[in-house]
Amino acid sequence: MTNWTPDSWRAKKAAQQPNYPDLQALEKAEQELAAWPPLVFAAETRELRKNLADVAMGKAFLLQGGDCAESFDEISAPSTRDLFKVILQMAAVLTFGGQKPVIKVGRLAGQFAKPRSADTETIDGVELPSYRGDMVNGIDFTPEARVPDPRRLVQGYHQSTATLNLLRAFASGGLADLHEINKWNLGFVESSPLRGRYEQMAHRIQEALQFMEVLGITSDTMPTLRETTLYTSHEALLLNYEQALVRTDSLTGLQYACSAHMLWIGERTRQLDGAHVEFFKGLHNPIGVKLGPTASTDELLGLCDALNPENDAGRLTLITRMGADQVESGLPKLVDAIQREGRQVVWSCDPMHGNTHKARSGYKTRSFDKILAEIRSFFGVLTSHGAHPGGIHLEMTGQHVTECTGGAYQISDEDLAERYHTQCDPRLNADQVLELAFCVADLMKNGH
Ligand code: PEP
Ligand code: CO
Repeated sequence: MTNWTPDSWRAKKAAQQPNYPDLQALEKAEQELAAWPPLVFAAETRELRKNLADVAMGKAFLLQGGDCAESFDEISAPSTRDLFKVILQMAAVLTFGGQKPVIKVGRLAGQFAKPRSADTETIDGVELPSYRGDMVNGIDFTPEARVPDPRRLVQGYHQSTATLNLLRAFASGGLADLHEINKWNLGFVESSPLRGRYEQMAHRIQEALQFMEVLGITSDTMPTLRETTLYTSHEALLLNYEQALVRTDSLTGLQYACSAHMLWIGERTRQLDGAHVEFFKGLHNPIGVKLGPTASTDELLGLCDALNPENDAGRLTLITRMGADQVESGLPKLVDAIQREGRQVVWSCDPMHGNTHKARSGYKTRSFDKILAEIRSFFGVLTSHGAHPGGIHLEMTGQHVTECTGGAYQISDEDLAERYHTQCDPRLNADQVLELAFCVADLMKNGH
């Protein structure tokens, strides 16, 4: 990395950036952000990188999930707590059923910016700039709201701080204690057909805890029973923001993005000669890259060369998002190439973004069956190539929403209107997540 600097991306083409009318205000926001403390610390990201190296080698499993887009208006302690609980619950099912440690990474505390397929949106003949996430502009369909405002970058930073503060308290303040496993069930899952299965598992875990207690292993003697680690991640779309939060680690002298533990490059911004790939090259965080159905082996190997030249096992997570029907045509050649070339990577499956469609009712949705089908095919392809299906990447919430169809409650197209609250893409609700967790745990155990 001889000529990389935190701003070397500026000489390259940056896709999907807001068109800020007030560049002075942008510079002011960047300066302000550069003066604030980092959100995460280098040593934490190094720990995650070590955990991900275990995932790459098949010794652990990655669970990454959260909102498609966080919102400035909807931040609340209960909604953060509920997402935290769903992640804990899912991780418990995967650890117990899949017999592997689960590395938990939230899509939160910074997931505020969205790539869009069109620059503008037209409603009833009125054309306005597209909504690009709360850290860029407002969701209301008015000319004022849609102007990209750099002050939103600073607001996003502060909201991320508040969320992270809460998460750190949840992680070490008792909520994550395994003895509390029954309390991770959210109210509306109580009446779900899955409740019995979860309670049975919780009961077995509690029995194991009692047995351990007799041997003197308690929450007091073994802190891992009462604490957990939830890492943070988001798509690093807005390079002005990300650059302003790059810090040099005082221990190692290396540069880290300090807006989150893990960052990823989206499907629309992973051009090899583009600004996002350039920016990521010099960072030492663990990073992800999304790979859609059109990704070629040349592109993939090029990305590995650019982003992980030292072939370090925990550095690069490939997040495939093919669509259930395109896994067979898109994925095997990529896995082949990685295996053939001996590249060390984490393979993770995002079964959400390739399976989005518009329901008859007009809502953007995803079906539980397609989501599960993509995960199944992903496991099948990876396992048959002698590689490790390392993780899943979900859009999910602890709220009782009706955004994805199917699952134990059989949400139908007609039900979507009932509680459709997402700021962007449709999310699995806690009940659907729990059901998926049991299915994925079976896949982890049986390989297919
Ligand atoms: C996302 O993760 O919300 C997203 C936009 O994904 P992708 O880049 O895979 O389309
Ligand atoms: Co999304």
